[in-house]
Order: sequence, then C-alpha cells, then structure tokens
Amino acid sequence: MAYQSLYLKYRPQTFDDVIGQDHVCQTLRNALSAGKVAHAYLFCGPRGTGKTTSARLLAKALCCLRSDGPTPEPCGVCDACVAIRENRLLDVVELDAASNRGIDEVRNLKEVIGYQPTWARYRIFIIDEVHQMTKEAFNALLKTLEEPPDHAFFVLATTDPQKVPVTILSRCQRFDFRRVPMPQVIGLLGRICQAEGFDCQEAALATIARLADGCVRDAITTLDQVVAYSGGSVTVEAVNAVLGGAGFDVLFELTDILARHAAQEVFPFVERLVSEGRSCAQVLEELLRHLRNLLVARLGAATETGLEADAETVRRYVEQSSHFDEATLAAAIGRVGRALEELRWNGQHRIVTEVALASIAGGFLTTQTAVAAPAAPPTPHGARPPAHEATVRPAPEPPDPEPPPEDEAGASAENPVASDEWQRAVLAIHNARPALGAQLGQSTAIESGDELIVSVPGSFQLDKLMDALDDPEGRALIESNVAKVYGRPLTIKTELGAVPPKARQQAATGGRASAVDLVLEMFEGSRPLDDH
Ligand SMILES: Nc1ncnc2c1ncn2[C@@H]1O[C@H](COP(=O)(O)OP(=O)(O)O)[C@@H](O)[C@H]1O
Ligand SMILES: [Mg+2]
Ligand SMILES: [Zn+2]
Repeated sequence: MAYQSLYLKYRPQTFDDVIGQDHVCQTLRNALSAGKVAHAYLFCGPRGTGKTTSARLLAKALCCLRSDGPTPEPCGVCDACVAIRENRLLDVVELDAASNRGIDEVRNLKEVIGYQPTWARYRIFIIDEVHQMTKEAFNALLKTLEEPPDHAFFVLATTDPQKVPVTILSRCQRFDFRRVPMPQVIGLLGRICQAEGFDCQEAALATIARLADGCVRDAITTLDQVVAYSGGSVTVEAVNAVLGGAGFDVLFELTDILARHAAQEVFPFVERLVSEGRSCAQVLEELLRHLRNLLVARLGAATETGLEADAETVRRYVEQSSHFDEATLAAAIGRVGRALEELRWNGQHRIVTEVALASIAGGFLTTQTAVAAPAAPPTPHGARPPAHEATVRPAPEPPDPEPPPEDEAGASAENPVASDEWQRAVLAIHNARPALGAQLGQSTAIESGDELIVSVPGSFQLDKLMDALDDPEGRALIESNVAKVYGRPLTIKTELGAVPPKARQQAATGGRASAVDLVLEMFEGSRPLDDH
C-alpha cells in the first residue's frame, strides 16, 4: 500500500479526537444535539490547528446515515461517513479561495448552491482561505449567505479574519481555533508513536512540539520526517538533524556570546551554524523565543509550562537571565524581530543575521547605554551575582573601525537605497532619542528639492513616524539633525513603502515573490507590522 503521511492517517475522525479546541467542539456538539446548527460558520485560526478537520467532522455529523438527522456522534462507518472520511462525497464541496480554480468556483457559487444535494442529506461548502476571495466572489457569497437554502451549510476557514469583510462576518457564527498547547501536542505525538511502534524519547517529542508552536500539522509532519530519517526512532539528535533547529544548547551558547558582548564571536558562530546546514531564519526564530524566555526568567516568572522547557532548562534560563537586564533583552527581542522581518525581502540572510547578532552583542541597540557611551560597561544590574562580574566586560570597540556602528543604528547596512547622510542623521537622532532612532532604522530617505522624503516599509512605521513629526520636539530633533548632516534645512515628507525593494523588483521582473510579499502588494503594505 502506498505510504500515507501520518498527518492524513491521523486526521481526527470524531470530535473527541480533536485536541486543543474543546470550546469549538463542545459548542458544535451542543448545536447538533439541539438541532440548531447555523448555516454559516467562520473558523478562524493559525494553519494546522484543525479547521478543515472540524469542518469535515461537522459534515459527517450533518450527513451520517445512522441517525435521522444531524447528530453529535456520527457513526463513522455508514456510507456517508466513510465517503466523507475518504474525501469523495460530492455533497461536501471544498473550495480553496486562494487558488484560481477556487475563485472560479466561488464565482459560480450561487448557481452551484441552488442544486439539491446529489446523494447526501445536505450540501456542505467548505471554503478555505476565504479572506483571499476577490471582491466579486465575496459579493456572490454574501448574496448566498443572506438567504441560504435549507440544504446548504457553509464553513468558511481563514487564517486572517481581519481581512474578511464585516458583511460576511456578521452572517457567520465565528469560532477561533487556538494554537494547541504543548502538552496536548506531545500527548498526541506519543499516541501516534505508540500506534506506529516508534521508539521515542519524551524530550524529542517535546522539541518537536515546541518548534511546531501550536500547529498540530507541523508537529505530525516533523515526526514523519524524523522517523523517515532515523528509521523509526525519535531521538533529540534525529529531531535536531531533521529540523536544522538550533536546539537549546546552541541557543544558550549564542546568548552567552550576547551576554559577554563578544560581537566578534558572532561571525564564526554563524559560520558554524550555516556549515552545519541550519537556516538563519529558523535560528533567528528560535532565538526570538529563547530571548523571550530569558526575559520571562529575568522578570522572575519562569515555570516549566510557561517556558515550555524541562526543569533543568528552566534553571539554565534563570541563571543566564541574571547576565542581562530587562531593557537589553527587550531591545534584543525587537532587533531579532526586525531581522526576521527583513529576511522576507532581503535575500542576504546570513548578513542580516550576522549584523543583527553583532549589533545586539555590541550593544548598538535602542537601550540607553551602549550607543550613548560605547566604552561604558552594560547597564549594571542590582541583583547580579558577584561570580558573574568577571564574565561581563565592557562592550569592546569594534575590532575593525571600517563598518562603524552607525550603520546598525540607522538603516540596515545592506540596504541598497539608504543614503549615507540619512544614516548619519538617524544615528544622531538615535543618540538623542533611542526609541525614535530605532523606529527610523528601517527607513530610507532621498532629497528632492527642499524636501527630504523619508520612506518606511509599513503603515505601522508610517503612523509612528507621523506621530513623531506631529510632536514639536520630535520634529525639531529630526529636522535639526537632518539640517546638520545635509548642510541645509530640509522639510521632512513621509512616504510609505519604498522598501521592500526586493519584493517589488521580483514582482516587476515576473519573478516569484513570496506569498507574504504578494499579499503585501495586494494590500498595499497595509499588513500590520509588529515593531517589537
Ligand atoms: N486540533 C487538532 N487535533 C488533532 N489533530 C489535528 C488538529 N489540528 C490539526 N491536526 C492534524 O493536522 C492535520 C491538518 O489539519 P487541518 O484541519 O487541515 O488544519 P487547518 O485546516 O486548520 O489548517 C490533520 O489532518 C490532523 O492530522
Ligand atoms: Mg485547512
Ligand atoms: Zn455515519
């Protein structure tokens, strides 16, 4: 028999098998028992958390032949249940609004819905990624939802409910699917291992679950890859080999470099990670979580469940967090977040990663200390144990005076359109007001007559910048530094979205931009950007 991937093999066949979404399953069961099933549901939530699965379960519950009508306990063995499980019941219509075919089908939806069910009791329409529908398609759908025929039920699924028009939202009963908590994912992985006869280490399952970040599909897929790699045993080594993930040890090693302000060690460290076949994006993502854990520990709130780590690892977090202060951790989190953002459009992953890590280690961040007084030791922390004093030394002068820290405080060094003057102005602004300087970190500027046009990549940054300019003090600070650097007064104008240039270039040359970039293009950069 052909190999069936585990995530399909273990797709839940009853509401009881669905993990982490009890609030959804219970409400659906109640509605089914009471015969009060809504004609339209909206299932929102991250991918791989059970939206499609639950939609199919609802279809089964509506169509099961063992019962006279909708039932919370579909039998699983009648012709309808089996056909739905095998995904071949014509009356369960799955459309993907993100695909071209889906768009056409949604356009014909009104017509299709008019038909009586071909075989089953009802017709169930499952529309995936509904937020990607075109305006036309939304209108067609809206008409249908206004007066759905008795035989038609709708489940609209989306990872991005903000993009679903309110007119649609208001006609649906909404369920929010959650990222599934780690213990439940570990439990499920354990049951699958048992059923499949895989040898597994608890710590390996925990690593898989942690990296899946609540996405059950990813967790099961990783398990699948791990056993394919190792031939049936699930060990931490196999998991790390498959995921190319940093693993706790490497992360602690990295944050040790950051704590010691050993910026020069960042480069060989990244070299090693890359040569071991790890991806910069994944390392940064894990580092983000790791820094967050350090912050939690620093704030005295570390628990095994909160950090999703075992007792020994929690102890390490508590120990290492004493080498940082909160502000540095918060700023480092922000810096890594920006680097991850930048990876979406900047193909130079390694450089982005190195610059981000070196700037955290070197202290070229939004904290009040390092940039203003590069030779001063990092902010001392009252509670730091004396044994530690020896390991902390002042931020070293950059080993090579060539790439000055200015680059980092301002626009990123590899940003092709950032002008030198603007970077110097941003650095000066940063010295006076670190938060404002950091906000300008992703901006670029060009002179145009008596104006300086400052471009920021997202509407969030644009709002922030306009706020700063609305504040007389902020405006004076920017304008005076610009005048100093450019040698003449310039009026500051703001503009959205000269960056990300890569995405635009790609789109213009017909290259494949990533989905995120395409969505960005479509919504004209209106994606809310976290400015950590
Ligand atoms: N809550 C869950 N409980 C159990 N398994 C799940 C859950 N969510 C996802 N899965 C697993 O992941 C696979 C994909 O889930 P799916 O329902 O298609 O996710 P979504 O539609 O939310 O992206 C399923 O086949 C199942 O194996
Ligand atoms: Mg789905
Ligand atoms: Zn049945």
